[in-house]
Amino acid sequence: MDVKDAIANRLSIRRYAQASIPPDHMETLFKSLQLAASGNNNQNWEFVFVGDADLKSRLVGACANQSFVARCAYFIAGVADPSQKWHMVDITIAFTNFTLQAAELGYGTCWIGAFDENKIKDLLGVPDEKKVVICMTFGLPQGRHVARKRKAIDEFIFVERYGNRWRHDT
Ligand SMILES: Cc1cc2nc3c(=O)[nH]c(=O)nc-3n(C[C@H](O)[C@H](O)[C@H](O)COP(=O)(O)O)c2cc1C
Repeated sequence: MDVKDAIANRLSIRRYAQASIPPDHMETLFKSLQLAASGNNNQNWEFVFVGDADLKSRLVGACANQSFVARCAYFIAGVADPSQKWHMVDITIAFTNFTLQAAELGYGTCWIGAFDENKIKDLLGVPDEKKVVICMTFGLPQGRHVARKRKAIDEFIFVERYGNRWRHDT
């Protein structure tokens, strides 16, 4: 699969098959996090991978009762040092790499932004001075998932000046 296909195939997956993930796939996915760009190459990111069924069940309540959190292979918390300027961006780039690498390997992901940070910190033992920036579910998709609609390109691409819309025929 090339990058274009990985981008096109990535969808938010909220239904997961019960399957374990081979260690070599996990290593490839970890590499996708490791190789992400980051502000000043600070690599201001740490990731807590939760595969334990009981812990995942308890995480549901920390994630606005999104029940699929309990059924993914791994729930991942993206943790950063919030005293550094680009912490939100760094985590997001790394997780974006992860979503595309996962898509290439046939796995699904879903960003989880609806969460109670304090509850996640308590459950996962994240230190007070760190920030849980964003979370993600990951696993083998189950069933069919449908792509969500996107804005037309000319609604958000401007050329040279804000408001000067991209036209396909120019
Ligand atoms: C920052 C962020 C937070 C999100 N939080 C949630 C969430 O808590 N629960 C959920 O089901 N989806 C969540 N999503 C997924 C979006 O709903 C999804 O990306 C969007 O609807 C587009 O669909 P697609 O990912 O299938 O292309 C989040 C996405 C982002 C980028």
